[in-house]
Amino acid sequence: MSTLFESFDLHGLTLANRMVMAPMTRTRATEDGVPTALMRDYYVQRASAGLLITECTQVSDQGHGIIRAPGMHREDQMLSWRNVVDGVHAAGGRIYCQLWHCGRVSHPDIRGGELPVAPSAIAARGDFFLPSGRVDFPVPRALETIEVEAVVEDFRQAARLAKEAGFDGVELHGAFGYLTDQFLQDGSNQRTDRYGGSVENRARLTLEVTAALIDVWGADRVGVRLSPSSRFYGMFDSDARTTFGYLIEQLNAMRVGYLHLREPNAADLASGTVQIEHVAETFRSLITVPVIANTGFDKAKAEAILATGTADMVAFGVPFIANPDLPERFRLNAALNKPDPTTFYGIGPVGYTDYPTLAEVAQA
Ligand SMILES: Cc1cc2nc3c(=O)[nH]c(=O)nc-3n(C[C@H](O)[C@H](O)[C@H](O)COP(=O)(O)O)c2cc1C
Repeated sequence: MSTLFESFDLHGLTLANRMVMAPMTRTRATEDGVPTALMRDYYVQRASAGLLITECTQVSDQGHGIIRAPGMHREDQMLSWRNVVDGVHAAGGRIYCQLWHCGRVSHPDIRGGELPVAPSAIAARGDFFLPSGRVDFPVPRALETIEVEAVVEDFRQAARLAKEAGFDGVELHGAFGYLTDQFLQDGSNQRTDRYGGSVENRARLTLEVTAALIDVWGADRVGVRLSPSSRFYGMFDSDARTTFGYLIEQLNAMRVGYLHLREPNAADLASGTVQIEHVAETFRSLITVPVIANTGFDKAKAEAILATGTADMVAFGVPFIANPDLPERFRLNAALNKPDPTTFYGIGPVGYTDYPTLAEVAQA
C-alpha cells in the first residue's frame, strides 16, 4: 500500500492517512465572522482527510481582511467553531485551526473605514475584490512597537479560544504575504525598531507569535505555514534563502509540530519571479520536524515526494474543494470531480457542499 494511505503519528495524534486538506478561505461565515452550520457540513464532508486545516481565521478585528472570513476572537465565534469541530470529530476526523492576521492585505471598506495595518506604510500589490468590484490596496498604517506586542497577545488569546472550541491544534498562517510574512520579508518591512532591519529582527514577530501559540498548546500541536517562493501581493525578499533558512532553523529549534511549506504553482513559475523553486527540497536538510508539502500535487506526485522523504504529509487544496471523498477516490484511482473556480469564494451551498461523493454518483 502507498504511504499516502498509511496512518501518521503526529506526536501522539494519530492521523488516518497522510493527506491533509489545505487551508482554504471559502467566505461562507457570517459578515461578523461567525462560522455557520453550512461550514460544519463542508468540513464534516471532508473528514476522511488525515488532517483538516481550516480556512484562515482572524485573531482580532484588526486582523480581519476578507469579507465573510471567520474569526476566533469572540465567544460566539468560538462556540460556532465548536459545532464544526464536534461534527468533524464525530465523523472520525482531525482538525486544526489556521490563525491569521491579514496585515496590509485588506481595505477600509470592509473594516468600518479603518486602514489596514502593516510593518511599514507600503501598499500591497495586486487585486483586491470588494462586493463592488476590484480596487487597489491602500497604503497601510505602520504599527507602533507597542501595537506589535498586542498582536502577539491577540494570537495567544485566539489560541486559547481555539483550544476551548476543541480543535486538535493550531496552524500559524505565516504565508502568502499576510502580517507575519510582511514583517519577515524586507520588501515590506522598513522598520527601525526591534522588529525591522536584521533577519533576526524581521523574524521576531513570527517567532514571538509561535512562542505564544506554544505557551497555550505545547509545541507538538502548533504548525507553521510558510510560502518562501511566493510573490503574492508584492512580497519580496532580497535574500529569501537566508531569511527563510534562518526562520526555519529557529522554528525547528522550537520543535514546532510541523512545517507546512508551499511550493510555487505553475503561474508563479511562469511569472519568472519565484524566489525559491523547490521549497521542501531546499530546506529539508534544516528540518527535523514533520513537513507538509503543498501545491500542485496529484496522487502520483504526492506518493513520489513521500517516497523520497522530502515530505511526511501532502496538503491538497483545490482537489479537496471538488472531491469531499478525495482519499477514497485516490485509493480507487477513481475519476475526480471538476472544480468550479467561480464558486470558490461564493455564498451558500453551490460549489461548496454540493460536490458529490463516489457513492452519491453511483446512486444518481
Ligand atoms: C479558494 C482558495 C482559498 C485559499 N485560502 C487559503 C487560506 O485561507 N489560507 C492559506 O494558507 N492558503 C489558502 N489557499 C491556498 C491553499 O491552501 C493551497 O496552498 C493552494 O490551493 C495550492 O494547493 P493545491 O494545488 O492542492 O490547490 C487558498 C486556495 C484556494 C484555491
